[in-house]
Amino acid sequence: MTSPSRHVTSAPTLTDGVVVLDGLRPDDAPCLVACYDAAVAWAWFDARPMTLERAHRDVANSAAKWRRGSLFRRFAIRRPGSPDLAGTLQLHPKPAEGSVLDIWLCPTSRGQGVGKRAARLALAYGFDEMAVAWVEVEVRPENVASRALAIAVGFEPIEGQWRQLHHKGPFIEPYRLTVERWRALEAGA
Ligand SMILES: CC(C)(COP(=O)(O)OP(=O)(O)OC[C@H]1O[C@@H](n2cnc3c(N)ncnc32)[C@H](O)[C@@H]1OP(=O)(O)O)[C@@H](O)C(=O)NCCC(=O)NCCS
Repeated sequence: MTSPSRHVTSAPTLTDGVVVLDGLRPDDAPCLVACYDAAVAWAWFDARPMTLERAHRDVANSAAKWRRGSLFRRFAIRRPGSPDLAGTLQLHPKPAEGSVLDIWLCPTSRGQGVGKRAARLALAYGFDEMAVAWVEVEVRPENVASRALAIAVGFEPIEGQWRQLHHKGPFIEPYRLTVERWRALEAGA
């Protein structure tokens, strides 16, 4: 992956004037605990409880990845004026110059356009700064909000590509947005 920002060592601050993406900080840890949605987490990962200790570890791991120049890039999602974290998102590197985008909003921040704004900031960063060729989101069939968000920002389903995330894990439907389609949508916006 040819990456103009491969050597960044901390999260940049990205904003559209309404939503801000920047790095997770130690004082976000209590919010990460408060935002934890056990039902959604269970569906995706495992049933480990979110504790303050685990949240601090997550924050430290995220900062360490930025420092190492990893292409796994996690951002805090914030709303200026609110002291609380609105959510987090991450871009996971994938082979063949792609990335997978995960977004997780705190329940009180959902359904207000924050996810769409945060996704668009992350997509602009992925395509412009990380030079990825495509970004995918992995949608669980019953996750209506996740699918709606993907379609709203321009992702298209990859037909016939349902996959299992891990052994006995849930099936997901991948949606993809290529850099060419992103640029065309931006030009028409
Ligand atoms: C999925 C999620 C990120 C969406 O973010 P959000 O801020 O709630 O979504 P937005 O308010 O920005 O809405 C984006 C679009 O989806 C639609 N939408 C949002 N929630 C919806 C719902 N529950 N049902 C139907 N449509 C919905 C909106 O109308 C909007 O479409 P439009 O622009 O065409 O009007 C958020 O709900 C969330 O964090 N859910 C829990 C974690 C999760 O499931 N993450 C996805 C894993 S990849």
